[in-house]
Amino acid sequence: MASVDVRCAGLELRNPFLLASGIWGETGASLVGAWRAGAGGVITKSIGEGPRAGYPNPTVETYGTWGMLNAMGLPNPGIDEYLAEMAAARDAGAVIVGSVFAGDEAGFARLARRMSSAGVRAIELNLSCPHAEGFGTEVGSEPGQVERIVRAVTAETKLPVIAKITPNAADPAALAAAAERGGAAAVSAINTVRGLAIDVRLKRPVLSHGLGGLSGPAIKPVGLACVWQIYERVRIPIVGVGGIARAEDALEYVMAGARAVEVGTQVAFEGIDVFGRLARELGTLLDELGFARLEDAVGAAHGAPSGPGARAAG
Ligand SMILES: Cc1cc2nc3c(=O)[nH]c(=O)nc-3n(C[C@H](O)[C@H](O)[C@H](O)COP(=O)(O)O)c2cc1C
Repeated sequence: MASVDVRCAGLELRNPFLLASGIWGETGASLVGAWRAGAGGVITKSIGEGPRAGYPNPTVETYGTWGMLNAMGLPNPGIDEYLAEMAAARDAGAVIVGSVFAGDEAGFARLARRMSSAGVRAIELNLSCPHAEGFGTEVGSEPGQVERIVRAVTAETKLPVIAKITPNAADPAALAAAAERGGAAAVSAINTVRGLAIDVRLKRPVLSHGLGGLSGPAIKPVGLACVWQIYERVRIPIVGVGGIARAEDALEYVMAGARAVEVGTQVAFEGIDVFGRLARELGTLLDELGFARLEDAVGAAHGAPSGPGARAAG
């Protein structure tokens, strides 16, 4: 069977499927569950400095298997409480990536320092949540600011820093390039795509917050396009995320240029057994297509000279 283990941003992953931030990662036990179910690594819920309640319900709307619109508002218990949750996942040997959000460089740097002392293997910066005022997209849509935030964090931690890029900007690849200049070890793309649903009988938005973020299979083409353009622009590894439900979706991301992928909405639909299924299916798919290793497929859909071998391995 083709090997699906992969090296990305200094992480040795037993398979490329990371639990995406915000889905299933609220507690230590849930992180452990996803790890034991076969995830290549687990990314925490995005954690801020203090507790945050998020928006009132309804915050999520689903459309069968097509997509999910949410505006949770980054609810989280704050870094002090969450660090205790992470102990269980660390003790289970999980590859943990700590996701953090803040409103400025100093806040990101403080959170990265706290996360770094908690046994995570990398830090993911949420520069891309589309529905939390003062955070996410609001601090991650301008290349200069992205570079400054990443630089502030890399000065604070020796761990690999992964900048999570928004698709809701004119040029996501420019944001990835800015993250690379700031010293990021990798970028992940994408966070949710800004969206809206309206209840025509109530004549008002369905979500309590109004605008939300669309995820799931509906956004896969958007994510793929971002990864494709980022691959053409930066040398650091890319983690693909958005709408992955089948091994073939993951391989599309890899062929567009990703070295690893994250799975979010499909975990919400299917549960954590998705990780074992995807890793098995990916091995079979690689065999069928004649790839001995997943790494050989990275960037395979791009023409030479930007294909595999032309770039540093993770
Ligand atoms: C309910 C929900 C909560 C999310 N929370 C976070 C979060 O805390 N931090 C973050 O960086 N991304 C968050 N995301 C975005 C996901 O990590 C992922 O980037 C996005 O959903 C696209 O992947 P998917 O289609 O596999 O879900 C959230 C997504 C959903 C649906």
